[in-house]
Amino acid sequence: MTLALTLRLVSLRLIVTHLRAAHVQQSSRTYVDTLAQRGNPGLRAPKKLWWAKELTPDFHVAGRLSERQIKYAADGGFKSIVSLYHYDEPSKIGEEYLPTSEEAAAIAKQSGLQHRVVLESGNSDWASVQAVDKLSAIMPTLEKPVLLHCHRAYTISFVTMMHMANASKHNPNYKPQVDIQKFYKMAAAMGIDFTMDFTQKTAAEITGEEIPENLPTPNVVPKVWYDYWMAHPVYKNWYTAGQIRESHLEKLQMDGFIHVINMRMGVDDENGNPSQEQVTLINVKDGTPTYGNKETGPRQIPNTLKNLVVDSEKDNSYVAKDSNANFESRNPGEFGDEIGYNEDRERQVLEKAGFQYHHMPVLSGGKFSPELFGKYKDKLLEIGRTGEPVLVHCASAHRVAYMTVLAAALQYNKDLDWALQRTRELGFVVSPTEHKDVYLMYAAWLDSNKFNSTKDEL
Ligand SMILES: *[C@@H]1O[C@H](CO)[C@@H](O)[C@H](O)[C@H]1NC(C)=O
Ligand SMILES: *[C@@H]1O[C@H](CO)[C@@H](O)[C@H](O)[C@H]1NC(C)=O
Repeated sequence: MTLALTLRLVSLRLIVTHLRAAHVQQSSRTYVDTLAQRGNPGLRAPKKLWWAKELTPDFHVAGRLSERQIKYAADGGFKSIVSLYHYDEPSKIGEEYLPTSEEAAAIAKQSGLQHRVVLESGNSDWASVQAVDKLSAIMPTLEKPVLLHCHRAYTISFVTMMHMANASKHNPNYKPQVDIQKFYKMAAAMGIDFTMDFTQKTAAEITGEEIPENLPTPNVVPKVWYDYWMAHPVYKNWYTAGQIRESHLEKLQMDGFIHVINMRMGVDDENGNPSQEQVTLINVKDGTPTYGNKETGPRQIPNTLKNLVVDSEKDNSYVAKDSNANFESRNPGEFGDEIGYNEDRERQVLEKAGFQYHHMPVLSGGKFSPELFGKYKDKLLEIGRTGEPVLVHCASAHRVAYMTVLAAALQYNKDLDWALQRTRELGFVVSPTEHKDVYLMYAAWLDSNKFNSTKDEL
């Protein structure tokens, strides 16, 4: 076939795919490319678990976990942890220690979690029917929800979704039914790529289906971004996150992140009033105001914290070897001070490490509006148009999801339907009836016709 003809065929196929996509979007506002409608990231403790990636409500995936992350998994409602690999050696993320499998099992036990390892020591053959088989054998023994992990939340996503595809094939009542199309769409929606020959081969073998043509591929820059696996890819160079830790900075740099935009409140707000948000603490529930109120004292004093304990049965040693309480009260690794989260500290540390740091505070739980986005729009686009990876973070990756999807939509000329779909894929529902303040903000910037008509109705 001549090159010209091949090119023409390719572009024809692209047009057909586009038409089909447009049709699907119009016929259903709720169309998403995920296995099921995802919930907000983070199960029952979004500030602690924003990095857990939801495949389905029962299965979330992650990279290699620190001791703190295992404890947070328990605090937030996970019942089991599964490690794909057997780690004989400890590792590190920045200065933070990452336990061996044996140590992780002991921490999980202390936290009240089941813990299992899929592959035996030395076996790293993840893209295999055998690995899926082993996970499938473990699954019935686990209490849900399960947090499954590998090094970077990549290989475990493959094995877990293949387990679901196999279960779907053998049991028509299995939910959600995962076929090869769904598998590839979900991977693309998560920003990960399994279109290599060896993964295609295993996927075809497990599902018994042929590999579809024109596999969906992720729209992410860089393509392999998951050295910092905790980030949530939004589109191209835009990523979101919850509160990053000082220990994460090295991995962020490995991924090529240059810009970090922080949307948490600063130490003081624009009127000069104290406005520190909260840090996360082991065995302490989120919530209660930083500075206290009529009912409660300042958050980080023992008298307040002891009423916020997740599990009062826990030993003091659960928090740290020399702890004199069974709850934590400071979190310097998260840029916390004696009051709460301290944005000045984050700025100092990130600037020293060489990041381009930008502070664009958005009130947590506040209303979104066209004006709020308007305040930051030009700066956001200026940063985005460098094409360099941008990490936009808050506490739980929630408020930033709304702002970042809109920034990406404007930079890349996407429409309102795209923004609504992408927001859903990230676990947040925006419509004329749900989070309508966000809907109006989107409509105002992406579709002024819809903005004017919806606004009049409301
Ligand atoms: C697929 O599911 C069947 C039925 O549950 C099970 O016997 C088999 O081991 C599974 N295969 C894989 C590769 O997981
Ligand atoms: C929407 O309303 C604004 C202000 O009321 C107006 O300037 C704009 O032209 C309207 N847009 C459309 C498409 O009607």
